[in-house]
Amino acid sequence: MRHINVDQKKCKFDGICSAVCPMGIIELKDGATVPKLVARLEDLCITCGHCVAICPHGALSLDEMKVEDCPPLRADLALDSEQAEHFFRSRRSIRVYRDKVVEREKLARLIDMAHYAPTASNSQQVEWLVINSKGQLQDLAGMSVDMLRYLIKEGHPLAKAYKLERSVEAWEAGIDPVLRGAPVLVVAHAPKGYAMAQVDSGIALTFLDLAAPTVGLGACWAGFFMMAAAQWPPLQQALALPDGNACFGAMMIGYPKYDYHRLPQRKEAVISWRE
Ligand SMILES: Cc1cc2nc3c(=O)[nH]c(=O)nc-3n(C[C@H](O)[C@H](O)[C@H](O)COP(=O)(O)O)c2cc1C
Repeated sequence: MRHINVDQKKCKFDGICSAVCPMGIIELKDGATVPKLVARLEDLCITCGHCVAICPHGALSLDEMKVEDCPPLRADLALDSEQAEHFFRSRRSIRVYRDKVVEREKLARLIDMAHYAPTASNSQQVEWLVINSKGQLQDLAGMSVDMLRYLIKEGHPLAKAYKLERSVEAWEAGIDPVLRGAPVLVVAHAPKGYAMAQVDSGIALTFLDLAAPTVGLGACWAGFFMMAAAQWPPLQQALALPDGNACFGAMMIGYPKYDYHRLPQRKEAVISWRE
């Protein structure tokens, strides 16, 4: 059974923890006693840590999340909106990589940052497969190209839409149109039966994409690979994900060969206002 542990000397009975609890299971009777979980609803706690993080007095811990393990927010590290806009706009899909091995520690650091992404009900079911081997990636890219060939042969609408023949020709000419010669592929996988697997994986990989340049790396979504991982049995077998899990997104990673110097434009955002 879950508990919240309240330091009675620090608690000011302000009820903020109760107000922000997403499950509404922290009660504070008459503001006179310390907060506690509503009886018989303890197991609804999703361990999101909001109660620990919001308490201005550092009075609250969960069994699984001690207040001393939750570092204070640092105002000196907060981005202002100009910095945030520049950060978002300067992120680029990197498709040309240096011939340099990516250190495992750097990849672990990236995934550590990405795994702070939100997940539905804080269920944190996204797992990671890191393929840091050019040889293995070459094989997986080849299998993805086999799927492209199959789509062309079947006259699949995607073959025309993406002009897949060009990609196959590129592969046959020694250019990898699937993984672009990246040294690393990071695959996000999750239980097939989990309804939010696609969304949670997409958000986690987006965090990874944003985090990559902060450690000198570049990333790019591996769309063709993702299509093959979703439907091409030879590639699924080669991936050998844990039983019951499927790939819900993948990203190439490597050291960028070139630097970008400008922020490209996007189309105007299409917004309908209802006020
Ligand atoms: C779901 C998804 C799949 C993508 N798949 C590929 C891909 O297979 N190969 C590739 O080179 N770029 C791929 N991209 C990158 C897009 O082409 C890129 O995000 C877009 O052109 C905008 O450029 P930017 O990311 O540099 O801003 C993908 C992007 C997304 C979001």
